[in-house]
Amino acid sequence: MTATLEPKTATAQSLTLSELVKTYTARGRESFQAVKGINLDIAPGELIALLGPSGCGKTTTLRMIAGLETVTSGSIRIGDREVSQLPASKRGIGVGFESYALYPPLSVRENLAYGLKARKVKGADEMVSAISRRLEMDDLLELRPAGLSSGQKQRVALARALVRNPPVLLLDEPLSHLDASARQRVRRELKVLQREFGYTTIVVTHDQVEALSLADRLAVMDAGVVQQFGTPDEVFDDPANLFVAQFVGEPQINVIRGVAKVADGKTRVEIGSGQGYLETTATSVPDGTTVTVGVRPQDCALGDPASTGISVTVAYFEHLLEFGLATSTVAGMEEGVIVQTPATESYEPEQKAVVTAPPERVYLFDVDTGERLR
Ligand SMILES: Nc1ncnc2c1ncn2[C@@H]1O[C@H](COP(=O)(O)OP(=O)(O)O)[C@@H](O)[C@H]1O
Ligand SMILES: [Mg+2]
Repeated sequence: MTATLEPKTATAQSLTLSELVKTYTARGRESFQAVKGINLDIAPGELIALLGPSGCGKTTTLRMIAGLETVTSGSIRIGDREVSQLPASKRGIGVGFESYALYPPLSVRENLAYGLKARKVKGADEMVSAISRRLEMDDLLELRPAGLSSGQKQRVALARALVRNPPVLLLDEPLSHLDASARQRVRRELKVLQREFGYTTIVVTHDQVEALSLADRLAVMDAGVVQQFGTPDEVFDDPANLFVAQFVGEPQINVIRGVAKVADGKTRVEIGSGQGYLETTATSVPDGTTVTVGVRPQDCALGDPASTGISVTVAYFEHLLEFGLATSTVAGMEEGVIVQTPATESYEPEQKAVVTAPPERVYLFDVDTGERLR
């Protein structure tokens, strides 16, 4: 029989970060600003993924919210409570940090129940059993922390954060050490548990698949700055800048140089020296501007050489079960173009073709700043 979990969270709380800054200073070294004024407004019960490359400030942000790192400036509010100056224990936040210590003399089961029993929570043992089953870790309950693999420790850390039943839950790379199949199952279960309990949750990850599958909204971060905050669809379909466009999406978005040609109220970009044109819905770019063009492999199609688009030569074709990938070269250009093709199609190396894309999926970016030109 499946024991049901009784969601006990009093009420889900909003989490608001305003102009949050972290500057690390070390004696004899230059100070370093790891987080540069972050603003995030997270709704009660929402699951946010903080997605970005290694070193962009994700963990620092999470540690400031948790109270494990001081805030240089800015504010952190849970509901309407300012918590940035409160000690970690007074913030009502559950953290699933990998480094979070377990008590070595206690079994995993005792570790999980410890905090609950200390707070005299009723049904602590049932809660631990239920969470443990959901995260497929029954076989770990009688083990000591020292005997756990890194993947097992990670599950225990996640379970420990979940059983505490916090209004705000922070998870730093919670699935990174699990093998691929366990990762998928635990990820699904994490999402279901998060929904049932209604925790306001931030999951830090550098893995876009994890972020896209878990999150209600993504905050894409780079160099201490949130580059875009939106639903997975918004971020994928309407990237704010070149960084976001390149960081989200698999295979990576094609990036090529082009020159805007405005005529009859329409904007086209000319690719290479006469290798063809792509039409775009961007309207703000003056005629003759050199731009960075972004177009996703999923939005491209290969047409016959007579159609309008970029003239290419297929260099390399891969069949990947559900679709194919044609890597193509453009005469006189270093950058190639990857086209995702239907599984039914096949292309040969040296084959000539034309790459087409719907105008609303042809994105233009400023050559210098990478900002989106609309
Ligand atoms: N205690 C610290 N002292 C100085 N620099 C730090 C400290 N912790 C992190 N950093 C630096 O801050 C930046 C952001 O780190 P971090 O938040 O851990 O990034 P992420 O979690 O996105 O990989 C990195 O350049 C890192 O080297
Ligand atoms: Mg980190």
